Amino acid sequence: MSTAHTGRAARTRAASPRVTGRPWLEHWLATVSDLSELKASHPMMDAVIEEVDGRMIRVGDTWLADFASCNYLGFDLDREIIEQVPEYLDRWGTHPSWSRLLGSPALYEQIEERLTELLGSEDSLVLPTITHIHMSVIPLLAASGTIFLDARAHKTIYDGCQIAKARGVAVRRFRFEDPAHLDQLLSQERDPTRLVCLDGVNSMTGNAPDLAAFAAVAREHGALLYVDDAHGFGVIGERSAVEPCPYGIRGNSIVRHAGESYENVVLVGGFSKAYSSLLAFIACPTDVKDLLKVAAPPYLYSGPSPVASLATVLAGFDVNEARGDALRMRLWALTDRVLTAMRMLGVETPNRSGLPIIEVPLRDHRRIDAVGRFLFDHGVYVTLAAYPLVPKDEVGFRIQLTAANTDDEVDTLIEAVQALAEAGELRIRDDAMEDAA
Ligand SMILES: Cc1ncc(COP(=O)(O)O)c(C=O)c1O
Repeated sequence: MSTAHTGRAARTRAASPRVTGRPWLEHWLATVSDLSELKASHPMMDAVIEEVDGRMIRVGDTWLADFASCNYLGFDLDREIIEQVPEYLDRWGTHPSWSRLLGSPALYEQIEERLTELLGSEDSLVLPTITHIHMSVIPLLAASGTIFLDARAHKTIYDGCQIAKARGVAVRRFRFEDPAHLDQLLSQERDPTRLVCLDGVNSMTGNAPDLAAFAAVAREHGALLYVDDAHGFGVIGERSAVEPCPYGIRGNSIVRHAGESYENVVLVGGFSKAYSSLLAFIACPTDVKDLLKVAAPPYLYSGPSPVASLATVLAGFDVNEARGDALRMRLWALTDRVLTAMRMLGVETPNRSGLPIIEVPLRDHRRIDAVGRFLFDHGVYVTLAAYPLVPKDEVGFRIQLTAANTDDEVDTLIEAVQALAEAGELRIRDDAMEDAA
C-alpha cells in the first residue's frame, strides 16, 4: 500500500468517534425496556407451552384455556385433517426444498387452483408467508411511484413499504378507517403510479374496513388497492340469503364479503391463522402472477413450505367445504357470548364487528403485568398488548376465540373478565357509566 493511502486511512481512523460498549444493542434495549421487563418476568410472555389438550395448554404446572392462538376454525386439532398428513409425507417426503422457481410439487398447482376458485379471483400465487409477500411484492407493485399507507397498517405491511421507500418510493399515510382522507391525499397526488396498502380485518380492533368505499376511492384515482386479510380469510366470506351467521359463507375473505370485485384490487392472505398451516397467498391477475414468478425474490430465493403444510391446506379446503360454515357459526356463537357479557358489564372494546378478535384496553397501562398475572392465575391465556407494541392508551389484552374452544373455557374467560371489571382494572364505556349513575 502506498504512503498516501496509509496516511488517509490513519486520518479517517483518528476522526471517527471511539465506540464503547455495544451501542447497537443498548439503543434497542432502551427502546423496548417495558416489553423486555415483561418478557423476563411474565408467565404469559415468551412462554414455553409443554402440552396441549384440545384448546387447553400447559405452561409449567398450570393448565390454561387458550385464547391467544389464531387457529380460528380449529383445523390444528381436526382429526380429519391430521389423519391425511402421513399419506402426503409418504408420497412427497417431509420438505420439497427446491425454491419454487426451480420446481414445485404438483400440490402447489392443486392449491392455487382450489384457492382461485374459492376466492373467485382471476388467479393466485402462494408463497410461504405473508411477510415474504409484503417484503417482495409491495416494492414491486409500488414501482417508483407513491404508496398510500393505512396509518395503522400491520407491522409487516409497514416494513414492506419501508423497503419500497429505500428504493425511492414516496410513502404517505392516510388516517385509519378514513376513505375520505385517502381521497383527499390521492386528489393532491401528481405521481401516476399509486398503490394503496391497508389491512382487511384488523388484527387489534377485530373490525373490517369499509372495503367498498376504499375500493371506490382507489379506482376513481387509478390506484391499485392492496389488502392484507390475514385475519379475515377463513372467517368471513360471501353473503348469502341462507348464511348460518353474519360472517357469511365459505370464508372466502373480505373482497367477497364486501360484495366487491378484484378490479384494481390485490388480496393477500394466509393459511397460518384460520387454516393452521404455513402458507400464504396473493390473489392477482395472471400477468401479475407471471411477473411475480420472476421478479418477487421469495419465489426464487426462499425455501418453500413443508409438505405437511401443503397437505393441511388441501385437507383444510375439503373440511371448509364440508363443515366450514358450521364451524364459523360455532365461532360466531362463542364470540357473541363473550361480547354480550362484556356489553352487560359495560366493558369497553373496539370490537363492533362480532369477529373473534376482542381487544380489552386497561384503565391504567401500568397495570398490564398485574392484570396478565391475574388472568394466568385464573386459568386464562391471552395475548398481552404491552407498550411499545401498542400506544400507552391502548395497552391491554387481546382475546381470540376459535371454533375449538369449549363453552366451559368461555365461562372461565367471562368470569375472569368480570372479576377484572369489578376490580376496576378495565375501561368502562361512557354510556354504561351514565346508566349506572
Ligand atoms: C395482519 C397480518 N399480516 C401479516 C401477518 C404475518 O403473517 P405471516 O406469519 O404469514 O408472515 C400477520 C401475523 O400475525 C398479521 O396479523
